Amino acid sequence: MIPQAIIDKIFDVAPIEEVVGEYVTLKRAGANYKGLCPFHDDTNASMSVSPSKGIFKCFSCQQGGNVFQFIMEHEGLSYPLAIKHLAERYNIPIEEGQIDVNELKEEARIKEGVYACLEFARKYFNDRLNNSQDGTVIYRPYLIERGINQQTIDKFSIGLSGTHKSHLLDEALKSGYGAQQLYDAGLVKKINDDGGIIQSNLRDTFIERIVFPIYNVSGKVLGFGGRIIKKDTKAPKYLNSPETVVYEKRKELYGLSVSKNDIRIKDQVFLVEGYMDVVSLNQSGVENVVAASGTAFTEEQARLLKRFTHNITMLFDGDIAGVNASLKHVKTLLAADLNVKVALFPANEDPDSFIQKRGTSEFQAYVIERAQNFIELIVELKMGDNKHDPIKKAETARSIAENIAALPDPLKRAAFISETAILLAIPERILIDEVNKFKQDSRKQKEREQRRDERVQEQQNIPIPIDGPPPGFDYVPDSLEIQMAESLLVDKKNYQEQDLLKTLILYADQEFDEEQNVAQYIFKELEEDEIWPVSAEYAEIFKEAHAYIEEHKVLNELYFIRNPRTSKLAADILSKRHSLSPGWEENFEKIVKTDADNYKHQVVQNLNYLKLNHIEMLMKENQENLKTADTDEDIVIFQNLHANLQEIRKKVTDQIGTVIL
Ligand code: GTP
Ligand code: MN
Repeated sequence: MIPQAIIDKIFDVAPIEEVVGEYVTLKRAGANYKGLCPFHDDTNASMSVSPSKGIFKCFSCQQGGNVFQFIMEHEGLSYPLAIKHLAERYNIPIEEGQIDVNELKEEARIKEGVYACLEFARKYFNDRLNNSQDGTVIYRPYLIERGINQQTIDKFSIGLSGTHKSHLLDEALKSGYGAQQLYDAGLVKKINDDGGIIQSNLRDTFIERIVFPIYNVSGKVLGFGGRIIKKDTKAPKYLNSPETVVYEKRKELYGLSVSKNDIRIKDQVFLVEGYMDVVSLNQSGVENVVAASGTAFTEEQARLLKRFTHNITMLFDGDIAGVNASLKHVKTLLAADLNVKVALFPANEDPDSFIQKRGTSEFQAYVIERAQNFIELIVELKMGDNKHDPIKKAETARSIAENIAALPDPLKRAAFISETAILLAIPERILIDEVNKFKQDSRKQKEREQRRDERVQEQQNIPIPIDGPPPGFDYVPDSLEIQMAESLLVDKKNYQEQDLLKTLILYADQEFDEEQNVAQYIFKELEEDEIWPVSAEYAEIFKEAHAYIEEHKVLNELYFIRNPRTSKLAADILSKRHSLSPGWEENFEKIVKTDADNYKHQVVQNLNYLKLNHIEMLMKENQENLKTADTDEDIVIFQNLHANLQEIRKKVTDQIGTVIL
């Protein structure tokens, strides 16, 4: 069990706008903040963050909750691990055993083990670079020789892998990490594929390499990129960690965890090809830089960047490989509605070598001078000096049209089409047709992919029995996890109970009458009429809240925001109430007013419906008893009870003002 004091401490020191702001650029909007929602492909800043309430809410995809839900969703963590994550982030000590790893879900447990191994490896590698014989005599001097200073080594936590086949493996096993965990983390490999994951069949993944830890956006180590420094070898120059449960390459960008603030401030990012480029530019004071690290640039990476800026300048080698890579990336970036420029470097130079040779100001001047939009780039690459070659011209126009077709914004498409028409002296009409052809093609392609996905889905759709886990499913989540998973928002059975809870969240500490507030009134009624919610999750929520009041604490919306059982629901209804814009309020002042005045009426109605529910339940039970009654005496009793219940029901329905058929 995690002590409540730790959870409360986190709420106190981790403001929601700061936690969310680590992942998304937020802009002020009145008392709240707005930003692109990271949980769906957002184009409109649909996510709202309320500092005063401590909640976030996306009005498009409906994700919402408190800081913990944000971290759970974003980092794919369970509730206890989200607490641990924020506690670490804000230096709140958690003692050994306060989070019991054995209580976690299988998947969370594996991830936690993998993260721990990776963090161990990072420290171990970094220590080896700084302190081992090989590190100080061979590898650190290599980096220094390449102009990388100690401060930069520390900043990126650059390290040295083991130099024989099981340096890391032996050390990690000695420190208590398991072979399976190390294997899951991608830190060791099997020697013989058919063999088991046992010490004798394992070896380090990285041997004799300088390693660059790869972090996710919030600074957790996911894997490593390792550079060999020996020249006389057939081994690849760079070796990267494999994909693992925590490292999905298409979703990560090297350098983002250290550069994100600078990217935000400058509202611009440089995209480079290699680890060394990121590290070296940073050392020279150009900190708004990330790398896709050898992989193709993906849609997910574009979306990730877009949370921090819309302005991207790619800095690529001017060689053929660099040019082709940059062209491929351009389309992905354009499709994500990012503003893309490309600056190609002279042959045999990359951003690292350039800035080391010529210094920061010359670097900056070069980038500004050479940065081209995609049209200029394609024209230069495809046509070179043959500005009048008709065949080359057609090829160029086609390639440009393909990229324009990727732009989601019709106005931008129109603007680029006009520019191309002028530049190439080709009629606009023809370009438009060409763009449309590409658009149609990609639409068809998408449809094909969708149909394929659907077919796969259908094949995998094995029905799951509704009232129990499927056979062989032996993991039993604890009740809190179940409740958090089955969002309270979608439970259809418990309308009345949910409505009462909503009312409680909205008005708990408001006055009901001279003697009591809304919460006190509600709980008094629940006690007196014995109409406690019957469904397990609501019963527990109400009991907890009741116990809280009994301790003479004030029940208010903050309580519900902070309670993991109710925070999503609270975020949902509170953000709705507070999202009313000033204009809206003016126009609909009357409605807002009546709503505010109406809350007492609402409380009474909620309770009436709840009563009605209970009465009907009792009547049903009574009918059953009547059917199976043996003695005349019993029959009379049940009949009387029925009549009584009918009478009470009538009173309640009269109060509600509705006729129940
Ligand atoms: P230095 O040669 O140390 O300056 O690194 P660099 O970043 O300039 O290397 P290069 O331009 O050759 O490659 C750019 C990026 O491509 C690297 O940072 C790697 O991510 C990736 N890369 C390069 N060579 C290899 C390789 O042999 N294997 C893999 N998997 N990736 C590579
Ligand atoms: Mn280089």
